[in-house]
Amino acid sequence: MISRRAKALFYSLAGPLMRVNAALYRNLRAPSTAGKEIVRIHLGPGQRNYLQGWINVDANMFTGKCDVWADMSQGLPFRDASVDAIYSHHVIEHLPDLPGHFAEMHRVLKPGGVIRAGGPNGDAAMREYLAGNSAWFSDFPDQRSSIGGRLENFIFCRREHLTILTPSYLRELAEGAGFTGIETVQPITETHHPSLFDSAVLALEWESTPDSPHTLLIEARKPAA
Ligand SMILES: C[S@@+](CC[C@H](N)C(=O)[O-])C[C@H]1O[C@@H](n2cnc3c(N)ncnc32)[C@H](O)[C@@H]1O
Repeated sequence: MISRRAKALFYSLAGPLMRVNAALYRNLRAPSTAGKEIVRIHLGPGQRNYLQGWINVDANMFTGKCDVWADMSQGLPFRDASVDAIYSHHVIEHLPDLPGHFAEMHRVLKPGGVIRAGGPNGDAAMREYLAGNSAWFSDFPDQRSSIGGRLENFIFCRREHLTILTPSYLRELAEGAGFTGIETVQPITETHHPSLFDSAVLALEWESTPDSPHTLLIEARKPAA
């Protein structure tokens, strides 16, 4: 895991270049609003999760693979109402302005477009912590002997994570941006939009305890016009 200092240095040095790249992409290459093709974008694929047939967006162009190099905290490099589906797995908890990010996802979606988004499950973590279930937590990123230390690991991930995700908070964010049909879905096995979030997408998800999932995911829709 890169140190926070190295990451801050990267974003301050590469930030202006990413902004230029994102603006060029958005204005010259991004799918048009009038386009008829199905456009699916994958935010934050990271090192292993590149999705064929999707437009993969990430700031990490060194160890990861992406189609668009951009800092999502500066907005999404897509035109208004030009995207059918957005997939975002364990990314939003890294972003500083979640209401702004949800507003951006809503802006770029076509009417009727959908998101599948989420990250570390704060509700489950608090429940398992209160139940004293230390085994539910992992030793990532740091080895910890106490359950409190393991809870801290999970929630803040060496301060990589900026927030705690719970169903009510995700609902508030999604509703605040204008989404409807907001539903919590099970990782790996459940989607209300199987033609968009197909088996290739669900295969990227992981879960060792399906009865008390580590990942909290919602799906939601931008209302049709
Ligand atoms: C924890 S990884 C998740 C990778 C993958 N989605 C998964 O579920 O395993 C978070 C990803 O989000 C990307 N990311 C975080 N903040 C970002 C930002 N502001 N702009 C673009 N990408 C960002 C990181 O580079 C990284 O690839």
